[in-house]
Amino acid sequence: MEKHHKATRRDMIKKGALGAAAVAASTVLGTGVAQAAKNPVTYQLSGKTAFITGGARGIGLAIAEEMAKAGANIVLFDIASGQIPHVGYAVANEGDLQSAQATIEALNVKCLAIKGDVRSRGDLENAMKQAVASFGSLDIVVANAGVTQVGAMEEFSPEEISVVYDINVEGVVKTTQAAAPIMKQQKSGKMIFIASALGRMGNELFPIYASSKWAVIGIAKSAALSYGRDNILCNVVSPGLVKTKFADNPYVLSKMMPNDPAPTFDKVSEMLRPGNPIDVGHLEPEDVAKAAMIFATDATARVTGEVFDVSYGSLARSIA
Ligand SMILES: NC(=O)c1ccc[n+]([C@@H]2O[C@H](COP(=O)([O-])OP(=O)(O)OC[C@H]3O[C@@H](n4cnc5c(N)ncnc54)[C@H](O)[C@@H]3O)[C@@H](O)[C@H]2O)c1
Repeated sequence: MEKHHKATRRDMIKKGALGAAAVAASTVLGTGVAQAAKNPVTYQLSGKTAFITGGARGIGLAIAEEMAKAGANIVLFDIASGQIPHVGYAVANEGDLQSAQATIEALNVKCLAIKGDVRSRGDLENAMKQAVASFGSLDIVVANAGVTQVGAMEEFSPEEISVVYDINVEGVVKTTQAAAPIMKQQKSGKMIFIASALGRMGNELFPIYASSKWAVIGIAKSAALSYGRDNILCNVVSPGLVKTKFADNPYVLSKMMPNDPAPTFDKVSEMLRPGNPIDVGHLEPEDVAKAAMIFATDATARVTGEVFDVSYGSLARSIA
């Protein structure tokens, strides 16, 4: 019996090795290449619906544009309130949301612009229902809406701490909760979470924000485990500094350059540039949008629970 087992195991190992050799040989000989050419990666999203929180401007709008260019119908979900109590800079307003909708429609796809708050599960559920009623499905959800605080750990009031965790953490959980039942019923879906390079390290100037972005990665990985069997893929894009109104505003800039009477985004970028392996100090929103597209297409059809660092190599020093 024991002898029989050993023989079987040896046979299997032999078969496995032969199989691997056959695959390697076919690839070297070109069969693998020919196979790949038959199924090229497609960036086509025609007939798909992409729902983007915080889509009225910045990274969210850039992702919406990239997906619209690939043919997806778009839902822009944004608070569009101008101000949020206890946030130190202006968020998008109604005008931004309207002009974002016009930008997307000019790309010859359909676009719904919905005012809502990611802190409300009801707002998200209603908006996603509207998306399905209008466009027939909910294929891609981008959990992108977020806010920041800047300063030393002990500076923040309870309200300032709460607003970041309520939007960046609870808002992302609620976005996931609203999307999951629809995607489960479809037996397909892609959730893309926008974290941050600061979700991969500590930071003494952004302690609340950084910890909220660590949480986003935890939510995304947990969602990947929860929904994999339903064919719902959940992945994260973690950008470095991006030129949007989130960072390019007097509140954030004055905290980042406290000794400069006239801080600018470009000065911050120049300050960061020498520390990066490639010669850039910041990203444009389009850079992040192109990375997010990878998770929207079949280039990543078997990928879930992963984090894609899009941060000009700044993490090459710290993440295995
Ligand atoms: N800009 C950066 O340097 C940078 C870097 C890494 C990660 N990020 C992340 O990227 C995401 C987008 O940031 P951005 O730079 O485009 O910022 P942004 O401020 O330009 O855009 C964020 C959008 O989210 C909306 N929003 C905020 N709170 C909301 C809420 N409660 N409900 C619905 N919508 C809400 C805002 O109105 C705004 O349109 C955020 O999660 C941010 O943390 C930004």
